[in-house]
Amino acid sequence: MTKRIIVLTGAGISAESGVSTFRDPDGVWAKYDYQQVATPEGFAANPTLVHEFYNARRGSLDAVEPNPAHIALAHLEKELSAHGGHLTLVTQNVDDLHERGGAKQVIHMHGELKKVRCDATSAPSCGAVFDWHDDLGGDAQCPACGATGSLRPHIVWFGEMPMHMDEIEVALSKADLFASIGTSGSVYPAAGYVHAARGLGIPCIELNLEPSENAAAFNDAHYGKAGDIVPLWVDELLSELD
Ligand code: APR
Repeated sequence: MTKRIIVLTGAGISAESGVSTFRDPDGVWAKYDYQQVATPEGFAANPTLVHEFYNARRGSLDAVEPNPAHIALAHLEKELSAHGGHLTLVTQNVDDLHERGGAKQVIHMHGELKKVRCDATSAPSCGAVFDWHDDLGGDAQCPACGATGSLRPHIVWFGEMPMHMDEIEVALSKADLFASIGTSGSVYPAAGYVHAARGLGIPCIELNLEPSENAAAFNDAHYGKAGDIVPLWVDELLSELD
């Protein structure tokens, strides 16, 4: 029986909730230049533009709800745990829909929209991370160290190291199954996890609207909308639980 499952999710799992994906024709990167709004250089050049970009995305979370795919993964987490197993839920997403869908442990490897960090290259900062649900601006004061202008979105920008990599690699090494849901497989290191899992002899399944860039690396796949195929996949997994 598959007991230790690691799931990697991407923007596609939140698409039916109304959160834009990145590389679909109407995606975020069709509207914004990622170099201006999602790189340290872009933030240094125009922090106001970057704050506006993340303030708009943070604010839009109030208008969206988790969909059946988020809820199904939370159910899988609970049922696996009740049967002596474990779900490691890793997401590239910075929204809070997995948590609002009921997931108790979520590893956000690209950060979170509803958190900010005191981290400035050109001013004193303390590195503290805070929950932050309102707009953030360049004049905000760090609640911990009092520095002004040192707060930035707690988001991993292009060129920065993703978070929790060690924890993810340990979970991957112990897994009986690796599942990738709603990601184009175009950004590393996340896109490389299927290759690492295959190298460890771990079965890999892709659930996506269409074959991703690394579809060939998977042993199995279900294609369709996450809100439809993820609950069915979870039910199939749980039917095998002894
Ligand atoms: N159900 C399932 N899959 C879907 C759905 C849906 N309803 N809608 C779209 N998809 C699929 C698309 O076919 C695509 O393969 O989700 C994937 C989304 O891919 P991207 O837009 O590239 O998003 P993602 O893979 O999460 O991007 C990875 O890139 O820009 C960075 O940091 C950003 O975390 C992001 C990373």
